Amino acid sequence: MELKECIFTRRSVRRFDARPVPHEVLEQVVAQAAYAPSWKNTQISRYIAIEDRSVLDAICRDFLPEHNANIVSGAPLLIAQTFIKGRSGFERDGSYTTERKDGWQHYDCGIAAQTFCLAAHDAGLGTVIMGIFPHEELGAFLNVPEEQELMALIAVGYPAEQPNAPKRKDVETLLTYR
Ligand SMILES: Cc1cc2nc3c(=O)[nH]c(=O)nc-3n(C[C@H](O)[C@H](O)[C@H](O)COP(=O)(O)O)c2cc1C
Repeated sequence: MELKECIFTRRSVRRFDARPVPHEVLEQVVAQAAYAPSWKNTQISRYIAIEDRSVLDAICRDFLPEHNANIVSGAPLLIAQTFIKGRSGFERDGSYTTERKDGWQHYDCGIAAQTFCLAAHDAGLGTVIMGIFPHEELGAFLNVPEEQELMALIAVGYPAEQPNAPKRKDVETLLTYR
């Protein structure tokens, strides 16, 4: 797929068919997401793939608001995106490099997540990034390692819908020159 087509046609997909996502396809998507830029090439983003239906059901029941539970209950795969703490935006002695403090960690995760979603779209998969869930509690349930933190959830699967693009702001609104 051409890059422009991939950017314009990627949508947040919230309904999936039952087909599982082959590990080979998921691994290609993660290999492409690894090419996202990151703070000093620290590459802090990690991906936990959750396919076990009983675990997905428990996440829906115990951690997600109804809207997101409805998405995940129909998804064959949920990615928990985590990051290695204390690297992106930090000096070796643990101090912050800039006044943005630890915010670059989240910035790097956002770039990685978008790269993941574009690569998934190119592979014929639908995705939706989800941010509404209790990060600490779900991180503990998923046994996220001590040196990592849970960032976002990404539901993944073969699309069972083709949503229209929500309206975008025009360039005059988005861009200013100085
Ligand atoms: C950080 C972030 C958090 C999001 N959280 C949710 C969510 O919790 N539930 C949901 O259905 N969509 C969520 N979305 C998807 C947005 O609603 C969606 O990207 C936006 O409406 C634009 O639609 P599009 O992705 O199809 O272009 C999230 C997106 C981002 C980037």
